Amino acid sequence: MISDLWYKNAIIYCLSVGTYMDANGDGVGDFRGLARRLDYLHGLGVTAIWLMPFQTSPHRDDGYDVSDYYSVDPRYGTLGDFVDFTHGAKQRGIRVLIDLVVNHTSDQHPWFKEARRDPDSKYRDWYVWSKKKPGHANTGMVFPGVQKTTWTYDDQARAYYFHRFYEFQPDLNTSHPEVQAEILKIMGFWIQLGVCGFRMDAVPFVIGTKGPKVRKPKEQYDMLRSFREFLQWRQGDCIVLAEANVLPETDMEYFGDDGDRMHMMFNFQVNQHLFYALAAADTRPLVKAMKATKPRPATAQWGQFLRNHDELDLGRLTQEQRQTVFRAFGPEESMQLYERGIRRRLAPMLGGDRRRIELAYSLLFTLPGTPVIRYGDELGMGDELSLKERNCARTPMQWSDEPHGGFTKHDKPVYPVISAGPYGFEHVNAAIQRRHPDSLLNWTERIIRMRKEVPEIGWGDFAVIPMRNSAILVMRYDWRNNSVLFVHNFDAEPHEIAFATGAEGEHGDVLVNLLGTEHSKAGDDGKHHLVIEGYGYRWYRVGGLDYLLRRTDIG
Ligand code: NOJ
Repeated sequence: MISDLWYKNAIIYCLSVGTYMDANGDGVGDFRGLARRLDYLHGLGVTAIWLMPFQTSPHRDDGYDVSDYYSVDPRYGTLGDFVDFTHGAKQRGIRVLIDLVVNHTSDQHPWFKEARRDPDSKYRDWYVWSKKKPGHANTGMVFPGVQKTTWTYDDQARAYYFHRFYEFQPDLNTSHPEVQAEILKIMGFWIQLGVCGFRMDAVPFVIGTKGPKVRKPKEQYDMLRSFREFLQWRQGDCIVLAEANVLPETDMEYFGDDGDRMHMMFNFQVNQHLFYALAAADTRPLVKAMKATKPRPATAQWGQFLRNHDELDLGRLTQEQRQTVFRAFGPEESMQLYERGIRRRLAPMLGGDRRRIELAYSLLFTLPGTPVIRYGDELGMGDELSLKERNCARTPMQWSDEPHGGFTKHDKPVYPVISAGPYGFEHVNAAIQRRHPDSLLNWTERIIRMRKEVPEIGWGDFAVIPMRNSAILVMRYDWRNNSVLFVHNFDAEPHEIAFATGAEGEHGDVLVNLLGTEHSKAGDDGKHHLVIEGYGYRWYRVGGLDYLLRRTDIG
């Protein structure tokens, strides 16, 4: 049954409520605004929303510094507004995933305040302390260049506390049974309010051992099983989508050999090599990354993505590959961040070139896994590099050419809307793009519609067809007596190519074009011959369009 494991073939759309739509006119988006935009999301065809943190927070890291896990930040509305929103989503068949940020709290969280004030408080042990400054305090920073240390002295506590991220994000002592129990309670709370899963922040750090003597944290993978068990018992279709930028050899530890740990993980390995392939027109490292991340339990799924709310982290590329990507997509220092990444949005990185944007999206939608798209990318929204660190790619959604892009009626939105220039709301907005059949918005809607009719990608087994030309990627998926095949040309130049589909049976002779009218029939040599234009892509169904009649019920 397809629907039971819904995340195997979902279309996930990630957004932050504060930048989506402001219904109450205070200059910041809120749940009432978001609920009114559900029809837009439904029309676009997304099947799940991933909401960035919206709980009460001092907002020093865009909400990734939570000060009350059981509330909605007043600027976004009330718990009542939240439930209205999840209800509206459910009515439209859209599932809601929320961020679960439990590696650390805000330093304004009452637990931390209590912990630093009173050494005998039960909350003292909920954090990680050291009387002396650990020798390795200036190592392991996640935000190099901005963050100076991982251990900061607290005058009130008269001790150093550990923080993997910024100093206002003290790490929770996640090995502590009471902290673990609290994490489950938080999940249970939000499930009750209508959510279907959690994007778990910083998973390797959540499960890593912590302490002044810990130089090399040891992962406590069993914790992942207990999170999953809890979810499954409470609500069978609830999932965890893990943020874990780890090496392929540890993937199975996160998924669990029996598929008993994380349901989904973001595929950072493929993401970084994908950008290299786009920059260098060389698909070989991407193919390697796809193959390295192929093993996974049948019930697990990759979350594939292009850009998200953070920098494009290129830390897993070689120095030379990274420089190639920097040169192509982020040549200026102001575009780079944390000595490892690019902080721009997708469209400006690709020079606003529609052919390249479509190529990138076509790839995203055909990579093995479930695509995760970022709000505004369906319009080709830009960035505002004058905003600091990652904020440049977190500007409000551009709805129309009305003041502030139709995001708010307030004179001064808290987050500035991109205005003027090629990416200004005056030109780039949903209202204009809705009217033009060829707009990126309508293209995205159509490609999503087609993607939903190709369950082979989410469920099937993939094979990369070997090509001599490394600018070309040909992938085939097989599932239930059906195959689909995708061709992508990463080069600006057209290429003449030939390949055999490798599909079993006689079906391989015919390729039916799913997005256009040029179908392909194999030549006498059994190969398909085609000329693919610069940055071109093709989606084919192998055999005829009687595929649904041919589909088997299992296998
Ligand atoms: C990862 C999140 O994606 C990022 O935005 C945040 O700053 C850190 N985790 C800390 O929560």
